[in-house]
Amino acid sequence: MISLKSPRDIERMRRAGKITAAARSLAGKMVIPGVSTLEIDTAVRRFIEGHGAVPSFLNYNGYPASVCISVNDEVIHGIPGGRILCEGDIVSIDVGAFFEGFHGDCAATYPCGTVSAEAKHLISVTEQSFWEGMKVAREGNRVSDISHAVQAYVEKNGCSVVRDYVGHGVGSKLHEAPEVPNYGKPGHGPRLLPGMTLAVEPMVNLGAYGIKVLSDGWTVKTQDGSLSAHYENSILITRGEPEILTLEESL
Ligand code: MF3
Ligand code: CO
Repeated sequence: MISLKSPRDIERMRRAGKITAAARSLAGKMVIPGVSTLEIDTAVRRFIEGHGAVPSFLNYNGYPASVCISVNDEVIHGIPGGRILCEGDIVSIDVGAFFEGFHGDCAATYPCGTVSAEAKHLISVTEQSFWEGMKVAREGNRVSDISHAVQAYVEKNGCSVVRDYVGHGVGSKLHEAPEVPNYGKPGHGPRLLPGMTLAVEPMVNLGAYGIKVLSDGWTVKTQDGSLSAHYENSILITRGEPEILTLEESL
């Protein structure tokens, strides 16, 4: 069942979304050569808790950290630790915060220092594919219209979309119905209705779309070792343009 949020719920989702977006921004600013991924995780946890919120990912299905940090050929769910970021790395940061009963969920990929032209291309294609999805994230369209718009843009630009992980409804639970794949034919899946809140999150590989999960049970990498990027926002379907609940803003 897809939950439709009331005006009061939406106000709370906006507040959770703001904290989450600010946490992503803080993490992105820490992506500098020499910083460890654990330092970023610690700073984000303090920031979220300092705003009276709770990191959504910490202990979620046993996940051991507050942020997912996925470097280069890591797609998603990289666990922060002693790894030191290097010049030329691309670093995907995924953050969730729970505030007043609702979650915000967002991600972005940041360059560490100067990165290759192909890495820059991948990052911009991934981010733009989200915005292509937003053009059709409207009342009356269907979920797979978003999926199709994302996939078409990514493939037109020579990259591939990950199939094994998808976007999702977001609200009082981190993961709610419906699933929001980043691929598929248009015109399928539930109709979009005002009050639906979705986490739309293209995961894009420079090479083929295949992935593998490492023996830590979390880290997802590209099968072919190619670079991968991620971009995610929590959004609200309205009577007009979608509202982005996790747009970068200061608090
Ligand atoms: N943004 C990711 C998602 O939507 C975060 C989940 S990571 C987990 O699935 F650790 F919480 F599982
Ligand atoms: Co998500």
